[in-house]
Amino acid sequence: MNSTEIKSAIIGFGGIARSHKRAYDALRQAGFPVSLVAICDIDPGQFSKALAINIDGSSKCDISAQHLYTSLDEMLENEDFDMADICLPSYLHKEYTERLLRAGKHVMCEKPMALSSSDCADMIKTARECGRELMVGQCLRFEPLYLFLKEAIDKNTFGRVKAAYFDRLSSPPHWGFEGWYRDTARSGGAIMDLHIHDVDMARFLFGEPDAASAISYDTFARWAVVNSRFMYGDDRIIVANASWDEAKSVKFSMSYRVRFEQATVKLEGGVVTVYPEDGAPYTPELLRANRMAEQLRTFVTTILQGGGNKVNPPESAMMTVRLVEKLRESADNGGVIVTV
Ligand SMILES: NC(=O)c1ccc[n+]([C@@H]2O[C@H](COP(=O)([O-])OP(=O)(O)OC[C@H]3O[C@@H](n4cnc5c(N)ncnc54)[C@H](O)[C@@H]3O)[C@@H](O)[C@H]2O)c1
Repeated sequence: MNSTEIKSAIIGFGGIARSHKRAYDALRQAGFPVSLVAICDIDPGQFSKALAINIDGSSKCDISAQHLYTSLDEMLENEDFDMADICLPSYLHKEYTERLLRAGKHVMCEKPMALSSSDCADMIKTARECGRELMVGQCLRFEPLYLFLKEAIDKNTFGRVKAAYFDRLSSPPHWGFEGWYRDTARSGGAIMDLHIHDVDMARFLFGEPDAASAISYDTFARWAVVNSRFMYGDDRIIVANASWDEAKSVKFSMSYRVRFEQATVKLEGGVVTVYPEDGAPYTPELLRANRMAEQLRTFVTTILQGGGNKVNPPESAMMTVRLVEKLRESADNGGVIVTV
């Protein structure tokens, strides 16, 4: 085995872990120095289950080359690995991230970083104390469909953004360990679990807003449907919607519509289309990349090179959780504008 190869272990082998597993397979196939050596899940039934979740319909997963554990302590005792890939339910992110950092592992943790910004701050402090890297899986920062927008904004390709609308719609989550998604205390509701992707994207594209407001309604969980508005001290309209309340027959979707001065750009049905002010609509050439694989590649590169992660630092993931807290404050007070 290459001495600079990073050995990883996944903790929690539910829905999203399978997308992570495929990311290891893809990077390894491309000769990238990362190897998934072990997987831990408290429920051994998860190792043999075929699982499909809203964002990923493919359930195939070959884990015959990995060592399997049902106890983290046992895995830590027996397995030699450099990084932990935390795919646990959100209410366990803080506890397990800190446990693994203290065990000397670098940690890549799924979003949301934690259920409160104060927990996020503790995680960052622990990572610093332990001298280990920590990154949160805000995976849209690695998604070509959204990186196209980032580049258009940063390079001023179509002029200034006048308005941007982001949508993320799902029927109620039908999977999950002990129904944790449906318990607000364990998932934070759709605003913390689903909407957080677009809250993070608004910050990634436009920076920190001066103020924000949100309205929402509850279903089986609190803040299950939310409409948020981000204010930047000018007349731009930046809006995001999330829903866990679509009909069961509605397939998960993520989309956006951004009105630039010289074009409208839309993501619909997984396809980006540019509608120029003058000329015919066209489909731009996008980077060919899988967001989960690029996220993993970034983290492993950070570990190998040192010096921290500038693309997706944990401090930024914490600020995204903080902004969600502000949106909840607004939603709980009739959509009042809150300063950020
Ligand atoms: N990046 C994305 O687009 C995306 C998409 C879906 C989910 N997620 C996030 O990923 C995380 C996991 O979501 P999921 O849908 O995979 O959940 P899940 O419930 O399907 O999977 C969680 C797994 O953790 C296991 N587990 C529970 N407690 C454990 C413990 N103490 N020790 C070891 N294993 C334990 C469960 O048995 C289960 O297999 C959540 O934070 C969620 O918000 C991210």
